[in-house]
This record gives sequence, C-alpha cells and structure tokens, in this order.
Amino acid sequence: MPKLIVKDLHVKVEDKEILKGLDLEVDSNERHALMGPNGNGKSTLLAAIMGNPKFIVTKGSITYDGKDILSMSVDERSRLGLFLGMQYPSEVPGVTNSDFLRTAINARNEKPISLFKFIKEMDKAINTLEMKPDLAHRFLNDGFSGGEKKRNEIVQMMLLKPTLAMLDEIDSGLDVDALRIVADAIDTCQKETNMGMIIVSHYARFLDYLKPTHAHILIDGRIVVSGGPELIEKIDKEGYDWIEKEYNVKATREEEKARPISLGSCGAKRSK
Ligand SMILES: Nc1ncnc2c1ncn2[C@@H]1O[C@H](COP(=O)(O)OP(=O)(O)O)[C@@H](O)[C@H]1O
Ligand SMILES: [Mg+2]
Repeated sequence: MPKLIVKDLHVKVEDKEILKGLDLEVDSNERHALMGPNGNGKSTLLAAIMGNPKFIVTKGSITYDGKDILSMSVDERSRLGLFLGMQYPSEVPGVTNSDFLRTAINARNEKPISLFKFIKEMDKAINTLEMKPDLAHRFLNDGFSGGEKKRNEIVQMMLLKPTLAMLDEIDSGLDVDALRIVADAIDTCQKETNMGMIIVSHYARFLDYLKPTHAHILIDGRIVVSGGPELIEKIDKEGYDWIEKEYNVKATREEEKARPISLGSCGAKRSK
C-alpha cells in the first residue's frame, strides 16, 4: 500500500519561507483533514507535494511508495498516483474537458483507454456529480461557475483513480445540495479505490460527511496539533486561538488574496 511520508519539509515561495519543518504521514485508506487559518501554508504543502515548480523545497524530504518524489516532475508524480484537486482550478480555453481527461488517463496507462470505456466512465462521473451532460465537450473550466469547477475536479479524480487524492477547499463555492453530492462522490471513490486523502476544508459540515480518520492543524508552516475527528469539532466550536496560546505559536494573519496559479504544463491564469 503506497504511503506518503513528508519529513522536516521547508518550502520557499518567491523567497519567503512558508513551510518551516513540516512532518506528515498519510497511508492508503486514511482520510486526513488539514485545517488552519488562511495564509499559513495549506495550499503550499499540497503544491509542493504535487511538484509545482514555484514552490521550492529547501530542506526535508517527500517520499511516496518508498520513492523520493522531489526529483520528479508533476507528470511523473501524477503517474505515480498523486492527484491534486485545486483550490483555484485553471481555465484552459481550446482544450475540451474530454480531450484533457483522455490524454491524462492515457499518459498513466500502458494501453490507451478505449473510447467506449472512456465515455461510459465519464458519463457515470458526470451523472454522479449531477452536472450538465455537455460538460465533456466544453473547454476545460472555461466559463464554468465556481461550483462547476469544483465538481469538475472530482470528475477528474473519479476518472484518474489516484492512490492519493489531495483536495484543496473543494467545498468552497458549493451550496448545501452540491456539498452533499460532492462529498458522496468523494466518499464512494475512496471506498472503491482505497486511496489515501488529504482534505483541506474550513467546514465541519463537509468534514462530517467525509468522516476523516485524522486531523491536523497547520499554523505558521508547521503542523502544530494532530488528532482525530474530535479535533475538528473543537476547532469548529472554539477556533484556533487556544492552539496559539497552548502551543505558543503565532498564526500568519492575512486575508487570502487571489494569485496567479500554474502547474508548469498548464497555462497560468489569474483566478478571480
Ligand atoms: N503562488 C504564490 N506566489 C506568491 N506567494 C504565495 C503563492 N502561494 C502562496 N503564497 C504565499 O504563501 C503563504 C501561504 O499561502 P497558502 O499556502 O496559500 O495558505 P493557505 O492555503 O493555508 O491559506 C501566503 O503568505 C501566501 O501569500
Ligand atoms: Mg489555500
């Protein structure tokens, strides 16, 4: 069973140290909730694990399935089974959703997926997520609403069947009904594939649906406290102040600003 092991990870972005010695282990079949005030490094951690070249690892190690992944490209990490559902998915006009997905699936498999099987799986995913049927033929995320972009990340996950899925605020921009639909789809996919998960979310309700087995609080570039579901409940009731006091840490305080996002091979586009 492939396992992710992050040790003493230090990550810089634009010459600022964001992660300052972070440790985390995620095994198959485990569901890890990653929480913490905005601007403290949650997305940075996921970007570094996925291999976004903007995020420079200055110290520490990341291994997956016993392999050092730091020297691997995003593509190679994806083929190894890693998947990142992004907080701000990129829009890629000119590439249809189905072309993008088939290319991504074929890049991972020795034999290309048959068109029949691909269409069947894509239809099933679109149905499960209750999305519009024309989704397959539209340009990737182009003109999608915030909620449609998030659902589309899950469509990708369902087709790619990763062994480790990292979902970054996949619940933001979803209304109550959509929240349930998306959570159910993730839950089913996890059970079918036994994948490990890292779920970044601020919402206890979403996490209630997904039943994390572990919870971690990331403050100022480190995981300060880890625990089980009871930790999520406590954060929901009491916020993060008590952690700062009890563990003598100071959270970075800032409103999250929109930033250009890029995954190397995908076109960079400023999200709104
Ligand atoms: N692409 C980027 N360019 C410049 N700074 C960034 C970028 N991504 C993140 N940062 C900075 O890294 C810090 C942590 O951000 P982030 O990892 O997005 O936090 P979180 O996901 O916990 O809200 C912030 O100070 C943020 O401004
Ligand atoms: Mg974030």
